[in-house]
Amino acid sequence: MEHRSDAVFKKPSIFRDGVREYAERLSSPVSAELRDIAEETVKATPEWADISTAHIQTSFLQMLITTGGMNRVLEVGTFTGHGTVALAEALPDHGEVVTIDSYVADKRAQDVAVRAFERSPHGHKIKPVLDEALTVLQSVEGDFDLIFLDADKPNYISYFETILARDLLRPRGLLVVDNTLWGGEVLHPRSLPPADEARTGEEWVERMFANWAHDVVRFNKHVVDDPRVRAALLTVHDGMTLVQLAS
Ligand SMILES: C[S@@+](CC[C@H](N)C(=O)[O-])C[C@H]1O[C@@H](n2cnc3c(N)ncnc32)[C@H](O)[C@@H]1O
Repeated sequence: MEHRSDAVFKKPSIFRDGVREYAERLSSPVSAELRDIAEETVKATPEWADISTAHIQTSFLQMLITTGGMNRVLEVGTFTGHGTVALAEALPDHGEVVTIDSYVADKRAQDVAVRAFERSPHGHKIKPVLDEALTVLQSVEGDFDLIFLDADKPNYISYFETILARDLLRPRGLLVVDNTLWGGEVLHPRSLPPADEARTGEEWVERMFANWAHDVVRFNKHVVDDPRVRAALLTVHDGMTLVQLAS
């Protein structure tokens, strides 16, 4: 498998300069294990490292898990396993995190994840599934306490609909959806020619970035208009939406 682009994918921050770094500095440090995976991510996939979860996000997810006494988690989009290991760290010893990735875009990320899961003292809680996310969502057994949705944005609505249709979330469970502010692009999505026409270099990255903003905008509207759920779009990192089933 080849990675699609050698151009650097970097989203703008939704915060003014220095705020993100300040927040990281004034938060408790993450484990040495998570720091190592973050470093390996930068080394192995320098042009995509920005898509990995930030430390502030992993700490946030861990607090949701421990506060909620959660046992079973589903992650859609593994990448280098940074988020996966963070989720596993917070789960009890009998807990489980099922994590899905097809790795069609970058096999190097999979290598980092495999190594991270093998050496992690929490590796026994991790069940990687190598497949298309929608295929897995259509067959995986629920129910989950937490679902962390962090894959391709054009499919977000299909993922959301499948999760609800299949009752994959337990009644008081949480769906957490990443990148719902998309670097702030959601305010003024640009229209560029489809990204598929040029799959390499700066142009591909620029088009993909611009076009996915429309998908995120559509998804956000879809969720907030859905009476089956309650949503809170939090300004954490690049936007994280918490979704709960309406009771
Ligand atoms: C933003 S990254 C995930 C980051 C990860 N959650 C973390 O904590 O660092 C998105 C991942 O989703 C995967 N992905 C994208 N589209 C997918 C699809 N249709 N099916 C399965 N995986 C997909 C990509 O291969 C990529 O590794």
